[in-house]
Amino acid sequence: MEKLALLLIGFFFSLAAALERSQFPPGFLFGTSTSSYQIEGGYLEDNKSLSNWDAFTRMPGKINDGTNGNIADDHYHLYKDDVELMHSLGVNSYRFSISWPRVLPRGRHGDINWNGISFYNDLIDTLLLKGIQPFVTLNHYDIPQELEDRFGSWLNPQIQEEYGYFADVCFKAFGEKVKYWITFNEPNLMIKWAYMIGIYPPGRCSQPFGDCTFGNSTAEPYIAAHNLILAHATAVDIYRKKYQAKQRGSIGIVMAIEWKEPFSNNEMDRLGAARSVAFAVAWFLDPLIFGDYPSEMREILGPRLPTFSSDEKKKLQNNLDFIGINHYTTRYAKDCLFSPCDSLTAESEGFVIGTAEKDGCLIGAPTAVPGLFVVPSGLEKAILYVMQRYNNISMFITENGFAQDSRSDSKMEELLNDRERVEFHRSYLSSLLNAMRKGADVRGYFIWSLIDNFEWLFGYTKRFGLYHVNYDTQERTPKLSAKWYKKFLQGSGIQS
Ligand code: NOJ
Repeated sequence: MEKLALLLIGFFFSLAAALERSQFPPGFLFGTSTSSYQIEGGYLEDNKSLSNWDAFTRMPGKINDGTNGNIADDHYHLYKDDVELMHSLGVNSYRFSISWPRVLPRGRHGDINWNGISFYNDLIDTLLLKGIQPFVTLNHYDIPQELEDRFGSWLNPQIQEEYGYFADVCFKAFGEKVKYWITFNEPNLMIKWAYMIGIYPPGRCSQPFGDCTFGNSTAEPYIAAHNLILAHATAVDIYRKKYQAKQRGSIGIVMAIEWKEPFSNNEMDRLGAARSVAFAVAWFLDPLIFGDYPSEMREILGPRLPTFSSDEKKKLQNNLDFIGINHYTTRYAKDCLFSPCDSLTAESEGFVIGTAEKDGCLIGAPTAVPGLFVVPSGLEKAILYVMQRYNNISMFITENGFAQDSRSDSKMEELLNDRERVEFHRSYLSSLLNAMRKGADVRGYFIWSLIDNFEWLFGYTKRFGLYHVNYDTQERTPKLSAKWYKKFLQGSGIQS
């Protein structure tokens, strides 16, 4: 018996010990991710204008702890120190986003803000000096508020030209040095929170509930997504025609891909689970690869889903060089289209109810963010889904991360000793390796996040960083997970 136990321990030990950087292909990108609004601060500094998130966080009650990104991690001033942190981790890539209102405070009708351009140029130069590849997101939710006020941002086709102009300015200013561009971060979640549930700016609801500031049209989310998809195509067209051959970079989009397991073996739940992923993911990726919306959506939504002209369809096809996957969780999907259902959020989930519990058991360990559960196999399944549906296009895991609760009585020592985060990344990296062994063309993995930061509706009450940030002093302190990542990247295994 004792022998068997020892054997089993040895077996699990060897499984754990099996994770090594050398198992990933040479040139595989290992990095960390952040976004402008969540870390920069530098609120209205050096001619930056008000962003939609600046305006939204001012409204009482929108952010759990009443905070905002005015200072955040003060990365606008501390970026050199933050690049040092990355250098000491040993990452070879860094994914960050450009603040549109910092570069074009008034959109395409105003001047370029050269202070903004020089901030990002310095950041990129500092990264390159340290051998860190910039992986740049053009838009991670924050837009100039003026575009919202002037014409209603994503609800108006004018946004396509606006965004195309912004992208053009960035390709021109930074493109010689940037080899990886992302047009949008998680547009599927942005539209869901901003135009269906109404809890992100501009706070519009398509369903008759929620704490909505404006809007009640069930077509709006699909119109906003339509304009965003065409804005992506406008930017890609500009990049391909004017810059790509010379600058030799690639351009893609990042989707939030939550995996869905059928709640039961019943056909309805199995179809529901597949439909839910199609509604969340293929909604954007099918048009950008095949030129049109998925039939699963058209059949159910009918005329609520806008149509592309034949010219647009042609322009949209093969519009991605790669797909970025942000993956945080897996839940069960219970059919809600053919079965009785009382959940009003069902439409935003593709007409299923997403649930984490079955027969009294949770699908995986809960994390500090409600709705996010640790289910490592979900990453492999999400990757295989993209691989199969999109002919094994190149992929990057652009975000994967674990949240800790940060309360006023949280002990620094406990926050630093983040063993659960280490375990989280080990198990998700193993799941990623499984997918790659099955043939998935995955080329990079980015941990969300380098440093604790402003977690949108949760303000500063959730911490995702490898480095702890003291928001009073801006001091960064490595957590156990930072030390673990560094060791892993040095190739010295994961045991120490
Ligand atoms: C994905 C988003 O891109 C990022 O901004 C956010 O902080 C993380 N998820 C964690 O919720």
